[in-house]
Amino acid sequence: MTTRTEKQYRWFHRASLYQIWIRSFADGNGDGIGDLYGVYEKLPYIRDLGVDAIWFSPIYPSPNADYGYDISDYKNIHPDYGDLAQFQKVLNRAHELGLRIIMDLVINHTSDEHPWFLESRKGEDNPYRDYYIWRRRPNNWNSIFGGSAWAYEGTRGQYYLHLFAKKQPDLNMDNPAVREEIKSILRFWLDRGVDGFRMDVINFISKREGLPDGIPWLPAINGMMHFKDGPHLQEYLSEFRSVCREYDRDIVQIGEGPFTEAEVARRYITGRKPVMDMMISFDHMLADCFYTEYLHRPFSLVSMKKAFTHWQNTMADKGWNTLYLENHDHPRIISRYGSESWWKESGKALAVSYIFQRGTPFIYQGQEIGMTNIRLRSIRDYLDEATIQNFERFFTKDPMDKRMNRIYHSSRDSSRTPMQWSEERYAGFSTVLPWFSLNPNYHAINVEEEERDPESILKFYRYCLALRKKSRTILYGDYREYEPGNRQVYLYERSLKDNHCLIVCSLSKEPARVRLPEAYRNRKVRRMLNNYEPMSLFDHLDPERYPTEKLPEKLLLHPYEARIYQIRY
Ligand code: GLC
Ligand code: CA
Repeated sequence: MTTRTEKQYRWFHRASLYQIWIRSFADGNGDGIGDLYGVYEKLPYIRDLGVDAIWFSPIYPSPNADYGYDISDYKNIHPDYGDLAQFQKVLNRAHELGLRIIMDLVINHTSDEHPWFLESRKGEDNPYRDYYIWRRRPNNWNSIFGGSAWAYEGTRGQYYLHLFAKKQPDLNMDNPAVREEIKSILRFWLDRGVDGFRMDVINFISKREGLPDGIPWLPAINGMMHFKDGPHLQEYLSEFRSVCREYDRDIVQIGEGPFTEAEVARRYITGRKPVMDMMISFDHMLADCFYTEYLHRPFSLVSMKKAFTHWQNTMADKGWNTLYLENHDHPRIISRYGSESWWKESGKALAVSYIFQRGTPFIYQGQEIGMTNIRLRSIRDYLDEATIQNFERFFTKDPMDKRMNRIYHSSRDSSRTPMQWSEERYAGFSTVLPWFSLNPNYHAINVEEEERDPESILKFYRYCLALRKKSRTILYGDYREYEPGNRQVYLYERSLKDNHCLIVCSLSKEPARVRLPEAYRNRKVRRMLNNYEPMSLFDHLDPERYPTEKLPEKLLLHPYEARIYQIRY
């Protein structure tokens, strides 16, 4: 049960967030690469979606070994994207439009081209020698991207730890000087007016002393027990939080915690001294495949529901959830948990499946128009390091079409193709050939087209976000799941006092049947939404005008049909 009073909620509890992966968002200066000039022009579009904040995936200088997640200068803007003056312009305009700005803070590692690393590798008498994790002999840990987590550095004659790519050496957070650097980075951006941070793989920053060997037979994650949620994590995070507390605005801290259990995540955001405001969970994204995996399982709705419900229940009283289905690390959700042949229906049903849970919804660029996975011809057309590593390492004896199919299902590159703004040449993303392949379906799937179509996925997202914001029950109410074993339908309820919303959501290609909870049977209810009916029945947002109906005992649903009912009991 929610024990918080409404006054205890902060801005981000009511907010929803739009994630920009800038390189593929909008090219404002005609060089084929997305940038802050493009972002500036699209701010009204983002505002009109009904979100309250933008989270920028890294926009700092970076050699792009991991597309921005390898930073070579934390206090600047990548020249491809603009400069600090342009950033300030975007930030000020965003604030005028009522949009807050959240920066990505990647502090588990830097780029190997960062000046700290260039110094550190020089030798043991260098002042930066302990900024990274050096050993004479590596342990058996593997990198998340594949292969050993250690690389030999000839100049220093030692190995350095890199939990991700070779070009992403891990910082030594146990060194107080490193933590001072991080605090100075936080202040740098807070002084410029940003409203919060999304903290990258934050659960990995504290490694167990002595770096003991991990479980030998676990691929990719064998050392995880020694660096996930490590011994000094809370302590370091609370130092960083104090910096955010120096400012008189309400700064949000969102932690990305790959594989962190809900119970552990809860500890970071609740209690007497929370160190984080919410954590990005991964459990619900494992219902088919994951980019570090080389297997592809068919989508299991039951396991997705189980993960969602577990996080909802664990965070129920004092906690809070991030809600998402897409970001730059996951393939497009319609191609995964939905169906490209039921494109519009499944795109809308998926929106309903997560936006109405208790938490802060995130929308990743292009998700709101239903962008889908890309099928590139050859592995040479892919750019993501993790994708290439998987391809080279696993199932190498399989026929090529099978291997490419695996890539199609799991590659992070599917969510990194340029945003589809219109059916013009280059999808309105740029006036020249974009830096990365466009999905050829941009002729059918694009913003301009969806602005014209009153029943588009884009219009549907706008409605869902507006509806969420208008309903205190959906913002703050309790969550309860029904029929967890139903393999076609996700059924959950949000309740605040005697007001209830029932979310009914089929994620099946076949017609589906679902038993309604007792309290709804033979009762007159209001329909707040149905993705098979015209939006005009709902988008006035006037409860008095919502259609009413008397519910039977069981509902029969069309493929990917989603409905919301409202009732008092
Ligand atoms: C996070 C990022 C991902 C990146 C990794 C290493 O998981 O979201 O894109 O590759 O951290 O920084
Ligand atoms: Ca550009």
